[in-house]
Amino acid sequence: MKLILASGNKGKLREMRAILSDLGAELVSQAEAGYDLDVEENGDSFLANARIKARAAVEASGLPCIADDSGLVVDALGGQPGIYSARYGGEGLDDARRNSLLLKNMEGKEDRSARFECCIVCMFPDGKEIVSFGEVRGTLVHEPRGQGGFGYDPLFLPEGEEFTMGELSCEKKNRISHRARALADFEKKLREYFDTQNSAERG
Ligand code: IMP
Repeated sequence: MKLILASGNKGKLREMRAILSDLGAELVSQAEAGYDLDVEENGDSFLANARIKARAAVEASGLPCIADDSGLVVDALGGQPGIYSARYGGEGLDDARRNSLLLKNMEGKEDRSARFECCIVCMFPDGKEIVSFGEVRGTLVHEPRGQGGFGYDPLFLPEGEEFTMGELSCEKKNRISHRARALADFEKKLREYFDTQNSAERG
């Protein structure tokens, strides 16, 4: 079975391709499949946005498509930046400025609890879908720490760890991250889906 990843992110393509090839499925990027979809992510949740991207790709290709959406949810900020994580403070900011803005908005807040969330949607042309979630809980530190990862990683101290996501090795981050957890859940559900399909085909 061939599936399309509705994302231009090479890291996500690599991670998901590894899982899918284990299951005997082939994953291609939307660029490799000849699509250049730039869909407006105007949903009100990670799930809604992942669904919007997956549905647009299915409609364009007629093939099963996978999309994801993720971000940082901060309790003391009413869930912000949330679905606006990539553009918190406006499109013009880089990661460092976005992190400074977040720290500024956290000034005086006692509750520094936060979590990264990730939702993966795999949509099939017949309308069936597989939905997977992953999250990692933690707290926000007061100064950026570490050069690793990307985005809000230098501010995020995962529960039970003494290093921020920006200080952790790539391997460790990829074991405990919201994306890793959503991917593990996705792998399990996709395996069940393929098993059901195979037994239906065998009659
Ligand atoms: P996307 O779902 O990959 O587009 O991520 C949306 C935004 O959420 C990113 O631009 C980052 O600001 C933030 N984000 C998502 N995952 C991570 C992560 O693992 N570390 C740090 N920031 C992240």
